[in-house]
Amino acid sequence: MLRERFRRPLDSAAARLSGSTREDAALLGVDLWGSLAHARMLGTTGIIPRASARRIERGLVELGRRWLAGTWRLDAGLEDVHLNVESELGKRIGEDGARLHTGRSRNDQVATDLALYTREALAAAGGKSLELAAALARVAHGPAGQGTVTGWTHLQPAQRLYWSGLLGAHALRFVRDAERFGAIRRALRYSPLGSGAIAGSSLPLDRFLTARLLAFDGPTPSSVDAVSDRDSTLEALFAISLAHVHASQLGEELVIGAMPEVGRVELSDAFVTTSSLMPHKRNPDLAELVRAESAGAIGRLTAALALLRSLPMGYQRDLQAAKPILFEGFEHLGATLDVLTPMVAGARYLARPTQDRSTASVEIADELVRAGVPFRTAHRRVALFLSGLPEKDRGLAGPGVATRIGRAFPELAGRGFDLPAPSEEPERRRTFGGSARREVDRLLALVDARRRAEARDLARVRAKWAERRAEFHLPERLFDDPLAGSVRKNGPGG
Ligand code: ARG
Repeated sequence: MLRERFRRPLDSAAARLSGSTREDAALLGVDLWGSLAHARMLGTTGIIPRASARRIERGLVELGRRWLAGTWRLDAGLEDVHLNVESELGKRIGEDGARLHTGRSRNDQVATDLALYTREALAAAGGKSLELAAALARVAHGPAGQGTVTGWTHLQPAQRLYWSGLLGAHALRFVRDAERFGAIRRALRYSPLGSGAIAGSSLPLDRFLTARLLAFDGPTPSSVDAVSDRDSTLEALFAISLAHVHASQLGEELVIGAMPEVGRVELSDAFVTTSSLMPHKRNPDLAELVRAESAGAIGRLTAALALLRSLPMGYQRDLQAAKPILFEGFEHLGATLDVLTPMVAGARYLARPTQDRSTASVEIADELVRAGVPFRTAHRRVALFLSGLPEKDRGLAGPGVATRIGRAFPELAGRGFDLPAPSEEPERRRTFGGSARREVDRLLALVDARRRAEARDLARVRAKWAERRAEFHLPERLFDDPLAGSVRKNGPGG
């Protein structure tokens, strides 16, 4: 296609480097939708005969059905999804097929496809982040959430928390991820279609109509920018990287928690493996792989930034190479969250308040502050007191510790001060956002409310997209799983 004026076919190695049909499978559904909108507009404006537009529309929907039925595959010899669709359409409906590309370039076409795809994939990524947050919140609300667990700083015992406070904090991060995906999606509101190759068109294209048909708020304001703007790709890759970093941090929490020496997390059998050599091993491989996935995500972000940085204004072919980076990014994130969510839901969170080990030294200092002692002085006195205790009493739990405290800090006499038991420690810290039950309940309520708000927005926008596609009778199944990635969409050997 398109090479009639050249005397030689494209070199075969060059064709392999140039082709993008493999990754383009991820765009098939949105490419058809974009073409349907373009055809409808060409007919409505009278740029092409209405009857031709109708035949094109019917042909495009038919291609979608055949794709789903597996009776049509992209031909790598035809370079990309756009030329595949056009060529197959021509075979089906003849002459009218040759009218579809009127006033359009693959440059505005691929920009439109990417906007449609990215929006859809962002919604799916947001949905999966919300599911993970929900799984964490469910554990936090349940009986395991009531147990206490040592909060670490520098991986050293710092202050005890409720499991609900710790898991609620992880949930909050994934809610923020979902909101971040949502914010990028909501900013993706303008349709590049009708920008042409770079400068728009001398034909009276109605860009407002195609924008509406594709559920955008309007057309992009600059054709020059629209064909080469990949901000949403970069923003999505950043949000994906950050979600992976959060997932990795939670994975690390599980890896460390499952160490027998720590013993506060028990992973379900469904998410551990064993050693090929040591029969006793129970390895948290999946949590480790969740951690490892973040490396690729960060690499994809930096690869895409590097790809874009030296491009002049206007479409450059380098932009094609950004597509698989984005598709793989979403695909890996989906695969990671699909593992992490059931892993978190199926794990046991053990509360073994180590009765012999208090983290309440700050409580003594705080009581001294209440008795009028400057904090720095109190801190020094408590530190000296602790280091002066016999080794066995350093945990502040043995019998006689209360007497020792009374002797070391006479100003506490008569104040009714008692050192909290480890399991009671979280309740002492009642500041806003602190470890006490009331504050954790406030956190979990916030997580649930923000989770529901984002879920409502997802449902609303998905319904709107489906409604617009239904106007064209385009099968919804083409948009089923935007995180499946092009490899799975191509099918075996595709
Ligand atoms: N396959 C191309 C891409 O993915 C489509 C645009 C090609 N445009 C061009 N002038 N060669 O970016």
